[in-house]
Order: sequence, then C-alpha cells, then structure tokens
Amino acid sequence: MTFENSLSFAENLDRQDPLREYREAFLFPRHQGEPVIYFTGNSLGLQPKGAEEYVREVMADWKELAVEGHFKADRPWWTYHEQLATPMASIVGALPKEVTIMNTLTVNLHLLMVSFFRPEGKRRKILCEEKAFPSDQYMLKSQLRFHGLDPEEALIEVKKLPGQHAWTTQDFLQAIEEHGDELALVMLGGVNYYNGQVLDMASITRAARAAGAKVGWDLAHAAGNVELSLHDWGVDFAAWCSYKYLNSGPGNASGVFIHERHLERDDLPRFEGWWGNRKETRFLMEPEFDPIPTADAWQLSNPPILSLAPLVASLDLFEKAGMENLCRKRDMLTGYLEFILQEVDRETESDFEIITPADRGCQLSVFLHGEGRPLFDYLMQQGVITDWREPNVIRLAPAPFYCSFADMYRFGQILKKGILERP
Ligand SMILES: Cc1ncc(COP(=O)(O)O)c(C=O)c1O
Repeated sequence: MTFENSLSFAENLDRQDPLREYREAFLFPRHQGEPVIYFTGNSLGLQPKGAEEYVREVMADWKELAVEGHFKADRPWWTYHEQLATPMASIVGALPKEVTIMNTLTVNLHLLMVSFFRPEGKRRKILCEEKAFPSDQYMLKSQLRFHGLDPEEALIEVKKLPGQHAWTTQDFLQAIEEHGDELALVMLGGVNYYNGQVLDMASITRAARAAGAKVGWDLAHAAGNVELSLHDWGVDFAAWCSYKYLNSGPGNASGVFIHERHLERDDLPRFEGWWGNRKETRFLMEPEFDPIPTADAWQLSNPPILSLAPLVASLDLFEKAGMENLCRKRDMLTGYLEFILQEVDRETESDFEIITPADRGCQLSVFLHGEGRPLFDYLMQQGVITDWREPNVIRLAPAPFYCSFADMYRFGQILKKGILERP
C-alpha cells in the first residue's frame, strides 16, 4: 500500500480498520483533555475498561462470602486461574494443559531452571543473546553460580556482527553448532526488548534440540505481540509477563509454558507446593505430593485472585479480537509509523535510524542521531508517551489493540515541530 502523510489518509485507514472499536475498550491517560498517544504498550499496557468490574466482583465476593468465596463465588477462587489457561494458550500457540499463570516472570524463570537447567558431564553451558534483559542476565548468572559454575566460562553470549544492530539467525545457529555438546540450555528473549527484533524461534529451537540442549524462551515482549507456536516448535519451556501487551496491570502475574512431553514425568525435578497438587486430593492434606497432570503442577501457592481479575478482562478481549487480526493490524500500523518517521526525517533533514530489523512485532526502536534527551522530553510534554533507552534510542510500540493510524499521523506532526521549532 502507498501511504500518505495526511490526517484524512490516516483517518480513512482507521475507518477501514476492523478492530477500530477496541480502542474504546481501553482507558487512556489524558493530555490537555485528549487521549495521549501511547507508545509504551511494550512496557505497561493500557487498562481495559472491563478490568475494574472483575476486580469489583472479587471484592464483593470477599465481602459477602469471605472464605466461602473459594468454592461458592460465581467464579470460585480455587479454580479461578483455570479460566485463563485456554485463552492464554491460544495467544502463545500451546495446548491449554501446557500453560499456567503464576508468580511473576523472573520468579518463574528461576523455577523453570530447576526443571530444565540440569548441568551434567560435559553439558554445563547456557547460551543466550548478548545484552539480554538485565533480569535474565542476573537470573542466568545466579543459576550458574548456584550450580557451582563460573558465568565467565559457562555463559555463552551470542554477539551481533560488528556494526550491526540486529542478529542474524545464522549467528545463533552457528553458536549452537560450535558449542553443541557443551550446551545444557539455550535461553533467549523471543522478541528483544531493545531493538524489537523477533528471533526465528522455530529454527533456533530446532537447532538447539538437535544439539541435545533444552530450549527456553523469555516471551515478555512477544506474548500478545507476535504469532507464537510454542507447542509445534517443540519449545521445552517459556515464560512471559502479562502487564505489557497483555494489558493486565502493573507487575501482574506471569504465564508459563511447559511442553506436553515434560508433563507427568517422574524424573524431572521441580520445586513443589500445595497448589500443584491435584484438586481432588489437595484437601486430604496428605504428606505426599500428588501432581496435577498439567503445567499447573508447577504452581506453588494459591494465586492472588485480585491480581488475576484484570487479566480475565484482558484475555476476554484477546479472545474476541483474535491474535491473527491483531497481527494483521500491527503490520499495517507499524508500517505506517515507519513511513511517518521517514517522512519527518526527510522534511526536517534529520538523521533517524530505525534499528529494528524487518523481523519485528509492533516495536520500532529509533536512534535519534543529532537529537538527544530534550527531544524525548518534549514529546512527553506534548502527550506522546514513549520511552528512552541509553545512549540515544526511543522505543515506539503502537499496540494494535488501542493505537490508531491518526495517532501515528499526529505523532509525526509533533515530532516535526519538536525538531524544527523546539526552543
Ligand atoms: C524481557 C524481559 N524479561 C524479564 C523482565 C522482568 O520481568 P518481571 O519484573 O516481571 O520479573 C522484563 C521486564 O520488563 C522484560 O522485559
């Protein structure tokens, strides 16, 4: 499609957008009475309008039923998390039994390492990407130290080629081949938080498994943003947070995927708690653990129901809108944003560099050569909510659920003004 940098063109795209009504299902902060232009769905998604109602329902059940809410609430608390498995599984391409919602992301990665990082003999190394999200680096290094290994030797960080902002799939395949029989685990971010790159998860998973390693993915920036087929790709495990593209609220719970082939295994170590015990025998209070035959066996505690409530509202919307439709709009919207950036770059004789490669979700990371933090501050003051990453990068993630084509056009106008007229 040939894009045009005009409000009427953008508004026309909005009129033709089959998902346009979903913008109304979210609450926008306001700037001078108007909804902000929100580019940080990759950090914290907007609040679905329905979220408060689900939270209120739990508060009312607690008030009226107290402890009996566990079994007598319309959505009984003891099975509350179960309603999330099917919609979440369809977002990540899994069987419902392969998915559970529990804890938070870094906590879950540590718990999954208990099952899937088992250094033995020559196979003691972990392969990850260079400059992985810091929490993942801390997690991986502390796990290695916990097993008595030195991260300097046992953590292999796949680097980009000199001068490149993105990896090639070959960078990973080559590293896997090179270290093949020493690898215990390949653990990577499916969508890189910094440059927005979507890795070829299918090929990397296949290569890692062929080399005899386990494969885990941090899908914080992938879940709800890109198409995933965790089951078919044969991924061993994955985890993701729900507060970014899944719009569940600050610091909210994490999703976990464990491939079917690892469920019901007696030989796989796991840290256990009573909520992983089968419901039928849980309240017999027996001393021996009787695992649920699904990913729920990895649950430790009874879940924080108030926290899960907004996630129910959000996943309702995903079920209605459909990942396929969201991804179709994502590509149009991100393509239009790219066009707008190129237009502003040309009109202002700036030197923007989009460092996100063609394999992308909705995030564009832009190097603002010649412009610095003052331009970012200006954008924020004008109601454009974006984020800044050192040394000189802004990340723009137009979530297709609630961002419009007109937002992209308006952003371009503000950006242009910020460059040409900012004092
Ligand atoms: C890629 C990635 N991994 C891990 C985390 C840590 O998430 P949490 O604080 O929920 O453990 C984040 C948080 O933004 C992230 O973006």
